[in-house]
Formats: sequence, structure tokens, C-alpha cells
Amino acid sequence: MTEVPTAAPAFTTRRASGCPFDPPPEMSRLQEAEPLSRVTLWNGEQAWFVTRHADQVALLRDERISADNQRPNYPSVSAGNEATRAHNRTFITMDEPEHNEQRKRFTGDFTIKRTQALRVRVERIIDDLLDAMEKAGPPADLVTSFALPLPSLVICELLGVPYEDHGFFQRASSVIIDTRSSVPDALAASQELVEYLGDLVESKAKNPGDDLLSRLAAQYLVTGQSTRDECAKQARLLLVAGHETTANMIALGTCALLQNPEQLAAVRDGSPERVAGAVEELLRYLSITHMGRRRVAAQDIEIGGQTIKAGDAVICANDIANRDPEVFDEPDRLNIHRQARRHLAFGSGPHQCLGQNLARIELQLAYPALLRRLPGLRLARPLEEISFRTDMAVYGVHELPVVW
Ligand code: HEM
Repeated sequence: MTEVPTAAPAFTTRRASGCPFDPPPEMSRLQEAEPLSRVTLWNGEQAWFVTRHADQVALLRDERISADNQRPNYPSVSAGNEATRAHNRTFITMDEPEHNEQRKRFTGDFTIKRTQALRVRVERIIDDLLDAMEKAGPPADLVTSFALPLPSLVICELLGVPYEDHGFFQRASSVIIDTRSSVPDALAASQELVEYLGDLVESKAKNPGDDLLSRLAAQYLVTGQSTRDECAKQARLLLVAGHETTANMIALGTCALLQNPEQLAAVRDGSPERVAGAVEELLRYLSITHMGRRRVAAQDIEIGGQTIKAGDAVICANDIANRDPEVFDEPDRLNIHRQARRHLAFGSGPHQCLGQNLARIELQLAYPALLRRLPGLRLARPLEEISFRTDMAVYGVHELPVVW
């Protein structure tokens, strides 16, 4: 392992006051000053902090880098995350061949073709939510009335999870991704969700429906190729990843567009191609998975004139790579007209987001539908009074009070 240098700055997700859309300045500064540097984590351990786009793409695709959260030195994001490492183990924190063996059970459900087939259903859900918002009238919290129920309803239908249980699973997933959760709370939330999904998968084995978890149960549980626990953990990964991320992109993206009226108008009135480009730019600019892609070097890796030694912890800060001036001109400016497709908001390499096609469809439909239906949409409180999700593994807003 690498000798421990002394003054490694603390890893932080704290943003500068008045700049809620920009990564933390102490972290961003490293991109120019020392693109491959060391940071100190919450538990006093150190990790390599990789900030350049090219270095991250190289590392995340490198077979010598491991996503396995059971390795010593794996850089967990918090005490709760550390304590639930074993319990949280799914293919997102596995290496090949195990990772791909499990991931490929689901790739067919998230292809462009399969997710495009959901378009009409997603449009219908959006219309229903906007009808209800209009009917109730302003003010509203955009998170609870639109941004959160939309992806929750979509992923519930796809998996076959009853949406009536959303109070339970949304609360549990919030505790799991909150870095401030105590160890007992994080463990309890993680276990309750796995228990609930384990029961659900078992009941689907007996009474299958036309949904992903029924197919998982029929192909892997009933045949003995997988266990209740493994299926339940995979279901939990899909359920949590499927709604937390997209919900925060919808709310934070709307908040960012409301600060940029010309770009908002271009999204509201733009062609589907213009909207698709705007979604990529919002993904780049907002980079809601702001705690970085977390890895451990399985072997020595030479990169950027340095050697990352076998056993060293590595954080690929994809939010900062998405502001790399080598790849994006004027990176700190939201510009929906740019080509942003090379962003790393969905990661890179074998663990690149499985649900990205679904997320894209939801976002491409949600922003223009919301802005067209409520053309007078605006924040009900000044931006400075909005509560941002600095301590959550997925960034965004806790609430977005709006009027129209
Ligand atoms: C805007 C929305 C989303 C963002 C920004 C996002 C971001 C990410 C990122 C950065 C990764 C890579 C993790 C890593 O390398 O460590 C990832 C992986 C993953 N995402 Fe997403 N995601 C989104 C939506 C979704 C949705 C809708 C699903 C649906 C189930 C999903 C399921 C997954 C899964 C299963 C993985 C693990 C893939 C693997 O390890 O092979 N995500 N996502």
C-alpha cells in the first residue's frame, strides 16, 4: 500500500453558499492543482481522488480496478454504509465474472427497445400526476407531487412492487442513502427492505404476474439457481436506484432550469432532439451521484505519472470530471445546446448505469410536459431557502416549493 502522506484534504460534499449546482470548490480545485491527489475520508482513511475525465474513463474500464466492497480499504461513504457493506452486496459492488453473470439477468429489461415500449405508459403517469397537481392548485412541493411519484410508479410497475407500499420503501431507501443515518438505523432499513422484497419474490414464485420480479423468481428462484436473499437484494438495488436518482434529476433539473429562463423556454418549446440534448446536459451539469464511483486497486496501476498501489482506495469523482475543461467548453455553464453525451453521470465501464435508457425516457418526457402544462411555474421561495441534499448519496432537493 502507498505510504500515507500527511496533509490530504477532507473529502466533502459541502457546496459553496449560493452555488448549489456546482461541486464543492475544495474538491473542484484539485482538478487543476493535483488531478490525482489524496483525500481523507469520514473515518480518517485515505483514498486517491481522481478528478480528470480521461483518467476516470481509463480507470473505470481497467480490469485491475475492483468495485468489490468486501475488499479491505473499500472507501465507504459513511459509518452506516460501512456497517451495511456485507448486507448491501449486489452486482453493483461485485467484479467479473460474478458481476456480469448477475447483471445480464436484467439487461434485457432495460434495452432501448424495451424502455421505448414504456413510453406511452410513462406519458400517462405524467399526465395523471399533472392533472392532480392542477386540480389541487398552487402551491405544491414538486418533489412529493411529481418528481418522486413518477419514477416510483414506473419502477414499481416494471418490477411488480405494489405502489401502495411507497411510504415504506421510500422511507427505507432514504435512510439507506443518508450518510447521517446511525449504524442501527441503516442496518434496520436495509434489512426491512430485503425482508419485504424477499417475501414479494417468494409470493411471485407461487403466483407470477407479468413483471420483472416474477420472471426473476421463475427463472432463478424456482429453478434453484438463486436464493431468496440474492433475488431480494437485486430487487432492492433496482427499486432504490430506479426511483431515487431519477426523482432527484427531475426536481433538481427543474430548479436549475427555473434559474435559466431562456434554456427553460428551449426545453419547453423544443423538438424531442433538443429536449434529449438538454437532458444530457442537465445530467452532466448536475451530476447527482456526487459521492464518486468508489473502487479499490486490485493491482498496481500507473496513471497520470503516479502509481496507485494494489489495495489503495480510489474515488473517481464523476461530478468533477463532468466539469473538465479538456472535454467541455465553459464547463461551469449550463448550456443545453452543447453536445454533452460524453458525460460520466451514468458512470463508465462495466458498472455503467443499467437503467440509463429508462431514466432518459422519464426525463425526456417529464421536463417538457411539466413546463408546458404549468407555463407559469416558478419557485415559491428564494433559491437560498431551498434545502439541498448535501448529505445524501444522491444529490438533489429535499423539497421544491413551487407556484404557477
Ligand atoms: C438519472 C438517473 C440515474 C443516474 C444519474 C444513475 C447513475 C448511476 C451511476 C453513476 C452508476 C454507476 C455506479 C458505479 O460505477 O459505481 C449506476 C449504476 C446502476 N444503476 Fe443507475 N442511475 C440512474 C437511474 C437508474 C435507474 C432508473 C435504474 C433502474 C433500475 C438504475 C439502475 C442502476 C443499476 C442496477 C446500476 C448498477 C450497474 C452495475 O453495477 O452493473 N439507475 N447508475
